[in-house]
Amino acid sequence: MDYGLVIIGGGPAGYLAAERASHAGIKTLVIERENVGGVCLNEGCVPTKTLLYSAKLYDGAVGSKKYGVTVSEADFDHGAVIKRKEKVIKLLTNGIKSTLKANGAELVMGTAVICGKNAEGRFIVCVNDSEYTAEKLLIATGSSPAMPKIPGLYEEYENGFVLTNREILNLTVIPESLVVIGGGVIGLEMASYFNSVGTKVTVVEMLDHIAGENDRELTELLKKNYERKGIIFKLGAKVTEIGAGSVTYELNGETESICCEKVLLSIGRRPNTSDIGLETIGVELYRGAIVTDLTMRTNVANVYAAGDVNGRSMLAHTAYREAEVAVNNMLGIEDSVRYDAIPAAIYTNPELGSIGYTEAEAEKAGMAIKAIKIPMRYSGRYLAENEGGDGIFKLIVECATGRIIGAHALCNYASEFIVAAGIMITMDMTIEQAKKVVFPHPTVCEIIREAIFQCS
Ligand code: NAI
Repeated sequence: MDYGLVIIGGGPAGYLAAERASHAGIKTLVIERENVGGVCLNEGCVPTKTLLYSAKLYDGAVGSKKYGVTVSEADFDHGAVIKRKEKVIKLLTNGIKSTLKANGAELVMGTAVICGKNAEGRFIVCVNDSEYTAEKLLIATGSSPAMPKIPGLYEEYENGFVLTNREILNLTVIPESLVVIGGGVIGLEMASYFNSVGTKVTVVEMLDHIAGENDRELTELLKKNYERKGIIFKLGAKVTEIGAGSVTYELNGETESICCEKVLLSIGRRPNTSDIGLETIGVELYRGAIVTDLTMRTNVANVYAAGDVNGRSMLAHTAYREAEVAVNNMLGIEDSVRYDAIPAAIYTNPELGSIGYTEAEAEKAGMAIKAIKIPMRYSGRYLAENEGGDGIFKLIVECATGRIIGAHALCNYASEFIVAAGIMITMDMTIEQAKKVVFPHPTVCEIIREAIFQCS
């Protein structure tokens, strides 16, 4: 069978590109080896948010006294939470399958391997015992958890002591204790969930701070919030060995071990680029990721790559945008991704929402900036809903142009409202232009307006 476009991978980049391309009239086939919806829907973004919502309700019930509400017996049923997560996944994956069908895209389940080009110059893709040809390819094979060469890691992963994001979401019993290796996005979200439901959690992080390149003042505050809730952080700690029931690490020149029931390995992800035949058509890789330009083109004509596989910004919403950009360019509509305007959120409690430059990044780039920092208490709704809350909002403005170039918030709803700053960044809005935007009152996002007016 011959297609206009064959997409390898049915995650956010793959399924969205298939929907858009087939809707635009391109004969499209998407090939998925495991689950439509990819990591995001099946073992990432969506299932974790389902769990975290239950934990948040539970936290609310347990801590409701300060709001004048007494809950006599709050109980947490982890099994029921996992079951509900399965239901949510099923609803969403079924939705994707129907949308693909409604748009006319075809779906084949199996592992795709690129097998070069045929005499007519069409790409050949083999799946199971079938062969498909295409004028254009989109590689959207995603990423897998990084597995470093730590002694004992593979053995303990095989026997179920060490888990990745995949296995931890299927635990039917809450562990008494959990060591999280890696204090990044996955590590913090899972640490938050298990801390809420009563597990003794220790986060072992190699760097001297958590949450990667986020604003350091906000991440320090987030750490303090979780220390108050009982999470132990071992920062600057290098894991040297994993044994049966323990994790050993070096900290300040000393060797320490922690005994625990389970370990979560969350130290980043690697693009899935091996064993898919990229070498048969000469696709360029850098550190295992497919090299793409801002239009999602690779070095090979008519071959595009979107989502985690290009290693640029491993987020589902980046994958959506990259997929749209790839399809637009296939259709002859010039388009490119603005990587400086991609929001990010960590769904802890409180949440951390961010977009664009931090103060540190702007200074490193040699930009003259103004950083406006405001306590979240300036928002009436935040005050009403966060007894004793210590959240912070920061707005970053470029001095030379007055343009808004970054926004960072530690508070609940940050994941929802950070996009307001995102729109301002995407539209290259200056402070004077942003002053005309009306925010609903009372809302937590009014903090953006407050910062805008404090700028001049
Ligand atoms: P990450 O890159 O966010 O964090 C990994 C952390 O592990 C870093 O802080 C790193 O310093 C640390 N680390 C690396 N090697 C280590 C070692 N040997 N010992 C101790 N610490 C070590 O990666 P993570 O959390 O695995 O997430 C993977 C991807 O999934 C990320 O790209 C993330 O953006 C995405 N994701 C996004 C979510 C969201 O948007 N809310 C939710 C979950 C995942």
